[in-house]
Amino acid sequence: DADIITLDSGYGNTGSCESAITFINGEEGILRYRGYPIEQLAESATFPEISYLLIYGELPNLEQLSNFRQQLTFHSMIHEDMKKFFEGFRPSAHPMAILSAMVASMSTYYPELAEDDDMNVIRLLAKAKTIAAYAYKKSIGQPFIYPRDDLSYCANFLHMMFAMPTTTYDVPPELANALNMLLILHADHEQNCSTSTVRMVASSQANFFASISAGIGALSGPLHGGANQKVLEMLEMIQQDGGDYMKYVNLAKDKDDEFRLMGFGHRVYKNFDPRATFLRKAADNVIKTMGIDDPLLNIAKGLEEVALSDEYFIERKLYPNVDFYSGILYRAMGIPSAMFTVMFALGRLPGWIAHWKELRQDPGSRINRPRQVYTGPNERTYVPMDQR
Ligand code: SDX
Repeated sequence: DADIITLDSGYGNTGSCESAITFINGEEGILRYRGYPIEQLAESATFPEISYLLIYGELPNLEQLSNFRQQLTFHSMIHEDMKKFFEGFRPSAHPMAILSAMVASMSTYYPELAEDDDMNVIRLLAKAKTIAAYAYKKSIGQPFIYPRDDLSYCANFLHMMFAMPTTTYDVPPELANALNMLLILHADHEQNCSTSTVRMVASSQANFFASISAGIGALSGPLHGGANQKVLEMLEMIQQDGGDYMKYVNLAKDKDDEFRLMGFGHRVYKNFDPRATFLRKAADNVIKTMGIDDPLLNIAKGLEEVALSDEYFIERKLYPNVDFYSGILYRAMGIPSAMFTVMFALGRLPGWIAHWKELRQDPGSRINRPRQVYTGPNERTYVPMDQR
């Protein structure tokens, strides 16, 4: 039942391609990684397990998963010299810019390897969370916290984010579990803007880190992964405006105003984004479990209810997407909004890597070279300066 997008004129001219990684049915709200429904994976799997599934195509057995996790733990530290790069960034530098720069800089430390040598895949998956946590620590002027060998992928990241050298910090299990679910839900999503960017750069056989760094740049846009930070800013703006979300729903419908309801709409999902459905429930649970009363969650629910009953949104099939509730969860976990898109990138890494490998290991792949419809002037003769 998978819709295979047929190639019109060969890969690279139309931008469409075949892929065996993720299946989406936008009308029915179906999302599957290598055939497994996202709902089952988010409920039962771990992020390293899903990373393995996306990258290698099969769920790992116990031995494969423990070796993979051991590798991810062992390679979590970044080269001590790479830490010096952070001294050049301003404290106000956006962590997505830092992440993109630091991932690109990894190509100055690690050699380009053959597509079947996964050492750089392990290095990137293992070190990206360390770079992300260091970007946060840099922004608040706190010392970097080294990764630990005794913690899981998610607990290690949260420990590097929130621990201090002066006290012990035990990662609350509910936070690590919530992060695990969030990263799984973001892990891949077919040919979205950032994944297509990774494939575009990979198609020229540029190095692995350059391809992923380009994807990070694409994801940072507010119409794409940057939307989760914009959703929180929008909800805070509504809160400061007395919680009058009707005003903002009407503003979003006003053609003369470029304001959009951030976290709403999707190019592919035309009923509901299965990830948003899952995240809405999870946000409720995590906030109840942690005893948080977040007024922004109530504003988000009110906004969703009004928009879903308004014909402007119904006509245009605009529903909450993955970014609408993820920010509320990250905020409940104590992660600042400037880090939300970095969290999206950490989740999307295995997806980008899987697509990079799929393209680079395809003997038939060619450089991606879309064509255009030319709309400029017809041929004309050069005009010397004294006649202009
Ligand atoms: C992600 O591709 C992926 O898979 C992406 C992603 C992934 O996992 O990689 O799912 C992650 O990027 C999710 C999307 C996050 N972005 C936002 O939440 C930003 C707000 N949403 C929109 O800007 C928009 O809905 C997009 C970018 C998501 C989709 O854009 P499209 O498909 O190009 O739709 P469009 O801009 O052509 O809009 C169609 C109509 C327009 O109205 P009309 O001109 O027909 O009258 O719907 C309107 C738009 O004005 N519209 C909105 C709206 N989104 C679209 N109106 C108000 N609020 C909105 N959010």
